Amino acid sequence: MADTCRLYTDLAWLWPMWGDAAGEYAHYCRHVAGLIERHAARPAGTLLDIGCGGGKNVFNLKGRFRITGVDLSPTMLAQARGLNPESAFVHGDMRTFRLGRTFDAVLMDDAISYMACLEDFVAAFRTASVHLDTGGVLVATPDVTTETFRQNRTIATPGTRTGTGDEPDVVFVENVYDPDPADEQYETTVLYLIRDHGRLRIETDHWTMGLFPLDTWRGVLRDTGFEVHEGRYNAGEDEYTVFACVKAG
Ligand SMILES: C[S@@+](CC[C@H](N)C(=O)[O-])C[C@H]1O[C@@H](n2cnc3c(N)ncnc32)[C@H](O)[C@@H]1O
Repeated sequence: MADTCRLYTDLAWLWPMWGDAAGEYAHYCRHVAGLIERHAARPAGTLLDIGCGGGKNVFNLKGRFRITGVDLSPTMLAQARGLNPESAFVHGDMRTFRLGRTFDAVLMDDAISYMACLEDFVAAFRTASVHLDTGGVLVATPDVTTETFRQNRTIATPGTRTGTGDEPDVVFVENVYDPDPADEQYETTVLYLIRDHGRLRIETDHWTMGLFPLDTWRGVLRDTGFEVHEGRYNAGEDEYTVFACVKAG
């Protein structure tokens, strides 16, 4: 099945309802800011958010850092700008973009999962390294690794209210499946149940993501110029590995 990624194109209007910008994202961003403060060998005033999407992380970090966000989707960038008019946003592909400047800190959150082969995964971390000052910190959080992947995990999440007008009731049903555990990929399939004034509309979405063991993360981070510190982050019943990586001189 071909990738559709409608969540970042024609269905991007649903993104603000998937997860609460001021809730779970705020909690994660406090953790990110704490890691940067703990590990930085230089004052951290600027931050580059790679794969910034609709700007929920930016929303929660902009009080602490001057932020530039980069994303592949013009539709998501427009959302990020709307939510964060005081921050800068640039269109780019994390495998290849070069802004010609460096930052005190870099965040690589869930968007890194879209690197669906090792070559792209390495290229994205090379981009992060090129944009980070020596002594600055990259925070990278795998959504899932080979060790934590759960075959056929399916989660239904009711949409949150954003308070912007007459919103439909939405439920996001997300399924992950690895058809071939020998390769570096898995599939995400999403059903969107959209009830507008009592009428049900069902939309579907599908994309391929990268799946790597923790040892690959560690090796790639070291090879792209980082001293790697590893910690844990808990959200609900899930525990994540978080990498705080200091750019080596
Ligand atoms: C789940 S969203 C990120 C949400 C974000 N963490 C936030 O705070 O709102 C994933 C994003 O990854 C972006 N993305 C996927 N592949 C990319 C690439 N090669 N370069 C840059 N961004 C990419 C998509 O366009 C999408 O906006």
